[in-house]
Amino acid sequence: MHLFSYVDGSLHCEGVKLDEIADRFGTPAYVYSANTIRENYRRLDTALAPLDHLVCFAVKANSNLAVLQILARLGSGFDIVSGGELFRVLKAGARADRCTFAGVGKTREEIAYALREGVYSFNVESEGELERINEVAGSLGMKAPIAIRVNPNVDAKTHKFISTGKSKNKFGIGLDRAPEVYKVAASLAHLKIRGIQTHIGSQILEAAPFAEAAQKLADLVKQIHAEHGLEFFDFGGGIGIVYDEALKSGSPDWWLAQKPGTRITPEDYAAAIIPILKPLGLRILFEPGRFLVGNAGALLSTVQYVKETPAKTFTIVDAAMNDLIRPALYEGWHEIVPLTESAGAIKPMDVVGPVCESGDFFAQDRELPPLHPGDRLAILSSGAYGFVMSSNYNSRPLLPEVLVDGTEIHLARSRQTHDDLVRGEALLPV
Ligand code: LLP
Repeated sequence: MHLFSYVDGSLHCEGVKLDEIADRFGTPAYVYSANTIRENYRRLDTALAPLDHLVCFAVKANSNLAVLQILARLGSGFDIVSGGELFRVLKAGARADRCTFAGVGKTREEIAYALREGVYSFNVESEGELERINEVAGSLGMKAPIAIRVNPNVDAKTHKFISTGKSKNKFGIGLDRAPEVYKVAASLAHLKIRGIQTHIGSQILEAAPFAEAAQKLADLVKQIHAEHGLEFFDFGGGIGIVYDEALKSGSPDWWLAQKPGTRITPEDYAAAIIPILKPLGLRILFEPGRFLVGNAGALLSTVQYVKETPAKTFTIVDAAMNDLIRPALYEGWHEIVPLTESAGAIKPMDVVGPVCESGDFFAQDRELPPLHPGDRLAILSSGAYGFVMSSNYNSRPLLPEVLVDGTEIHLARSRQTHDDLVRGEALLPV
């Protein structure tokens, strides 16, 4: 769901007119709806209620401190992938013992930091990592809680860059090798086996791949539980969202009207996996990222120029691929709407940014109403993997992030300045 809608022809986020945010903070700027995040969290948490479960928000999707605070206050745990993400989660007031630490390349420093803070579990992706965690825990006189990430070789039917559960991906340990690797873990003095983990990919819009992964892992989970004693099964994230037609029906739950298979509800997800996971008798962890925050964000931008060429109309806006890279990187499709509702006849155009790359586009051959310099746009559903993937490419300052909560406006990050761009750099000596 999302809480963006037109009120008297002006696009609002909850009770705030987006033009007001653009006036106050300038464009480009990210805006997040606090109540969209809360509502998505509650809905997923409720659907999973039949399980002894913990939702661990995947911080990589949106790591703004205010967003993390909203989720921490709802009781969410966190799925982190770096020492930096752990630092953020702790800053936001969350508890380390509700954090799982994933990722294929954990450094010694990150492992030591996470051990000292007391993370719930390290999700381990290789034998080399088991040995390293054992060694670091030993040097600190501690026992490290671990889970092994198992790759079930399931086709998640999603973009190749965000599919992770196939054997050819770099993630996890194959189903057939997992029992051996658990034996290795059990033999290491400074490890404590706590769980098992899997994650098959992201932006998955069908329940079937989730059910297939749960089914493929169920016997292994029983076996490892019998041999080593497990506390939890972490089922990963991946629940997809709907990126289009968000404003057409005027309903926050517009996406429910989409065909099954092009959208997945928390209830569809829960119904497919609960019958398989509940009999395991373990605590089940989930790591949703996009589902909780994706539809909660919009990137506001202003049209700078409209360039007509014999081939195409290019609408050049002030946001660019460095601010939101999903279209360039994954051919990600984001709905684009004007802040002021327009009745003009639609026509095809490319919406592009000012960066010197042909890949710097938000939409190609998109049917949009006529746009003029100065018109403002919202690039919707950019709350997940939006700001977090932004960069300073072309020496463009990072954008502000603004959180709307009802009628309250909170500047959750200020826009970088030119001085910020060179902070930490050093001129050569004279
Ligand atoms: N757990 C693990 C181990 C993951 O690798 C990921 C995402 C998640 C949870 C959260 O997945 P989600 O629920 O958000 O689908 N930048 C890409 C998506 C990359 C996903 C990486 N891993 C995009 O913009 O589509």
